[in-house]
Amino acid sequence: MATPVLDKVEKDSAASPYITVTMRIRRFNPEVSDASVWEDFQIEIDPKERVLDALHKIKWDVDGTLTFRRSCAHGICGSDAMRINGKNRLACKTLIKDINPEKPITVEAIKGLTVLKDLVVDMEPFFQAYRDVMPFLVTKGNEPTRERLQSAEDRERFDDTTKCILCAACTSSCPVFWNDGQYFGPAAIVNAHRFIFDSRDEAGEQRLEILNDKDGVWRCRTTFNCTDACPRGIEVTKAIQEVKRALITRRF
Ligand code: SF4
Ligand code: FES
Repeated sequence: MATPVLDKVEKDSAASPYITVTMRIRRFNPEVSDASVWEDFQIEIDPKERVLDALHKIKWDVDGTLTFRRSCAHGICGSDAMRINGKNRLACKTLIKDINPEKPITVEAIKGLTVLKDLVVDMEPFFQAYRDVMPFLVTKGNEPTRERLQSAEDRERFDDTTKCILCAACTSSCPVFWNDGQYFGPAAIVNAHRFIFDSRDEAGEQRLEILNDKDGVWRCRTTFNCTDACPRGIEVTKAIQEVKRALITRRF
């Protein structure tokens, strides 16, 4: 795609905001080699732009084979979690100026899931764990004739965990998940929490039993990596602790 005209005008002006940055990207193409390699790209970019913009510049202007996922570009769809300068972040929410652009900016796929190509991983094990905890409202009895009411206090109980966008930044930053991909992982537990503590739901016991499994919540070692990684600011470790407590007390 051609460089937008506006970009060019800004570049040519005396007060050009553009700087040169080195994007160091871990490339992997199973059709070429079994090993990944780091590749450097030097690009000019306004530091107020995002890592996602830098990846677009490379893909559109330099190397069209660079492969990554993104959709909304505004922190909503959760498709562009990647490891940027060694930390899990959303490329569309990470400004170049905030990650020390004087040094090469490293970008690689999130850990713990099989890399398919460049920055794209196989998300299926992640989504399978999500499906396993029944991430939907379960009720018994007849269909109600009006909406299911809930007090503000009851709604508040699980407000934090409703914010999850399933980006996998938490699960793929968890050392337990790196060592054993069978662990449900923080994101699945967050999404179980969202329904376990919903006063309208009637399958809390069932979800707790699912997470009482040897690959469930008890594998968590409370390292807080998940909370640090979450781009939505969800208190992931706290949610996991609350599920553990509910398993012991059976009060939720
Ligand atoms: S809890 Fe946060 S980091 Fe984990 S999947 Fe949801 S939004 Fe992403
Ligand atoms: S592209 Fe949708 S969250 Fe970043």
